[in-house]
Amino acid sequence: MIDILNSRRTVRKYTKEMIGDELLNELLQAGCRASTTGNMQVYSIIVTRDEERKKALSPFHFNQKMVTEAPVVLTFCADFNRFNKWCELSNAEPGYDNFLSFITASIDALLVAQTVCVAAESKGLGICYLGTTTYMANKIIELLKLPKGVFPVTTVTIGWPSELPEQVDRLPRNAIIHNEFYHDYTAENIREYYSEKESRPDSKKFIAENNKQSLAQVFTDVRYKKADNVHFSKVLLQVLKDQGFMNQ
Ligand SMILES: Cc1cc2nc3c(=O)[nH]c(=O)nc-3n(C[C@H](O)[C@H](O)[C@H](O)COP(=O)(O)O)c2cc1C
Repeated sequence: MIDILNSRRTVRKYTKEMIGDELLNELLQAGCRASTTGNMQVYSIIVTRDEERKKALSPFHFNQKMVTEAPVVLTFCADFNRFNKWCELSNAEPGYDNFLSFITASIDALLVAQTVCVAAESKGLGICYLGTTTYMANKIIELLKLPKGVFPVTTVTIGWPSELPEQVDRLPRNAIIHNEFYHDYTAENIREYYSEKESRPDSKKFIAENNKQSLAQVFTDVRYKKADNVHFSKVLLQVLKDQGFMNQ
């Protein structure tokens, strides 16, 4: 299992081969064995296999081609709707219309998502997460008919790999692990920890292609810009309110 984890990479190109029901169910079943807050299972998984629905989803994922090319698209949702209904039917008053509960359910949803991904990779399938879900949550909510109490946290495309991309870099383990307490970084530490990433030929190409002076600028000025972050944050807060998670 550790070998699978160490050798994995995101796969964005898939063959046309389907994923059989039995295998998909096996992955989803394994996913639902993930730890879950209070064993409440405050998540739902929407399976999209229909070509037309994948096409409809595609623009909400900024037309990333994995959405239409993968045989299976999974949208993992934070979901207090089902649990609230059970409480209400059981003469119990739910108190889950708040931000804490949203985070609780989001953690649950992400644990299931990652477990499904590891299960899929262990079967030779390739996966790609799509961060666009939280950017376009309002549109996805409409298309997938998500009721109040449900919020799409992330999406994963799954298929049989048609390519084996190179593994991408990671920061050195020392950059990530803090023994006993958080050791804040000096400028020297930061330079050291990011130097490998910055000196890679693909990073240099990335900087040149984007007409920037540093790799960090590619992130701040091109890929994850403040203006976009602020805009999508505002939209996100409104969607959380609409979905009933902001009563505090
Ligand atoms: C929450 C999340 C959102 C992501 N969103 C996207 C995405 O929208 N499009 C994409 O191509 N890859 C996406 N990825 C994949 C990352 O780009 C990828 O994991 C990262 O570059 C490291 O590559 P690796 O998984 O091959 O090690 C996402 C990953 C995560 C965890």
